[in-house]
Amino acid sequence: MKIVCAYSGGLDTSCMIPWLTERYDAEIITYTGDLGQGEDLPAIRQKALNTGASVAVVDDLQKRFVDEFVVPALKAGALYEGKYPLHTALGRPLLAQRLVEVALDHGADAIAHGCTGKGNDQVRFEVAAQCLAPHLKVIAPLREWDLTTRELEIDYALERNIPIPITKAKPYSIDRNIWGCAIECGEMEDLWQEPPADAWMMTSDPAEAPKGSIEMVIGFDKGVPVSIDGETLDTVHLIARLNQIAGAYGVGRIDMVENRVVGLKSREVYEGPAAVVLHMAHVELERIVLDRPTFQYKRKLALDFATLIYDGLWFGPLRHAMQAFIESTQQHLTGDVRVRISAGLAQITGRRSPFSLYDDGLATYSDGDTFDRTAAVGFLKLYGLSYQTWGRVQRTR
Ligand code: ARG
Repeated sequence: MKIVCAYSGGLDTSCMIPWLTERYDAEIITYTGDLGQGEDLPAIRQKALNTGASVAVVDDLQKRFVDEFVVPALKAGALYEGKYPLHTALGRPLLAQRLVEVALDHGADAIAHGCTGKGNDQVRFEVAAQCLAPHLKVIAPLREWDLTTRELEIDYALERNIPIPITKAKPYSIDRNIWGCAIECGEMEDLWQEPPADAWMMTSDPAEAPKGSIEMVIGFDKGVPVSIDGETLDTVHLIARLNQIAGAYGVGRIDMVENRVVGLKSREVYEGPAAVVLHMAHVELERIVLDRPTFQYKRKLALDFATLIYDGLWFGPLRHAMQAFIESTQQHLTGDVRVRISAGLAQITGRRSPFSLYDDGLATYSDGDTFDRTAAVGFLKLYGLSYQTWGRVQRTR
C-alpha cells in the first residue's frame, strides 16, 4: 500500500509516518505545501525523509493560493459569521487538491491527514477528496490511534528517533498562512479571558503601536487589489506588505466564538492584517460602483459564500455557480480606496472610481442640483399607497 500523507513537520504528522507505515504496512510519501506559513521547508522535507518517508514533496503554493482561493473570497466579501476571513478554510481545499494530485502521480492508494475528529479541517480535506478523487481512501490517524495525549505522542516519537520540536512551551494550536493566522487552545478556552500577549504572531499590541497614523491608497482592478500608493504589486507581495504595515499598528486582531461544522462552539483568535484592510477597502469600492439591488444582494450572498467555504464545499457545484455571479459583479470594480491606519484601527478616508455611480448633481444640496424634487410627490403617492390603505383599514396601534 502507498499513502500520501499531509505533513507539516509538527509532532502529530511526524508520528503519522511510522504509525501509518506499521499499521498499514505502507510506503509513505509526504506532502507539504507552502501557503506562506513562514517555515523552513527544506528542513521540513529533510525531517520527513529522516522520519521514514520514501519521498517528500514540497512545493510553493502561495501564488496559486492567492489567485485561486484568496482573491475569489475577497471579491465575494466572504467573512464567516461576519468576522473570520477564512484563511485556514481556504488553505485546506488547495492542500487537499495537491494531496490528491500527488497521490494520482505516484499511483497511491490513499491519502492521510493530521486533523482531529472534532474540527472543521477534517471536513474540508475529506469533502475535497470525495469531490476530486472519489475512489481514493482517506485515513485520519488522529481519529484512530491511541496516542491521545501529547505525552504519549512524545514517548512514541522518542522510541522511533523522531526529533521533538523544541517549542517555547506555547500550548497553542496554530495554523498560519499568508492570509492569516489562527490560534487555539490554552487559556483562550475560557471565553472570559483575554488572549495572552504571547499568543499573537502577526500583529503588535496596539498599545505599543507607533504613534500617530499613516495613510495609504489601495488600488483595485476588476476587484483585485493591484497597488499600494500607486506602486503596482503582484497580489502575493501586496498582501505580504499590508500584513507588515497594518500588523505593526496592531490592525487585524479578531477574537471570536464561532459555530463549527461538527456542532460545537469554539473560541478562535485570528490575525489577518491584510485581510481586514482589504475586505474593508474592497467593499467600500463596491459601495460606489455597484447599483443598489446588486450591492445588497451580494452582501447577503457573501455570508452564504463564507459558510460554504467554511463548510468545506469548495469543489462542489454551488461554489462554481456562486463564483460566476460574484465574478460578473466585479467587471467595473476598478478604482482607489484611501485607508488611514493607526493603533489597532483601520478607517476608510476616501474612495474613487471611473465607474462610480455616485452622481454629484443628484447628491448635492448646493448649487447645481439636478434631482427633480417635484417627481418625489408622485413617487410617494404610489410608493406608500399600500401602507396608506393598511393605515386606513387595519391599523390598531
Ligand atoms: N476555526 C478555524 C477554522 O475552522 C481555524 C482552524 C485552525 N486550525 C488549527 N489547526 N489551528 O477554519
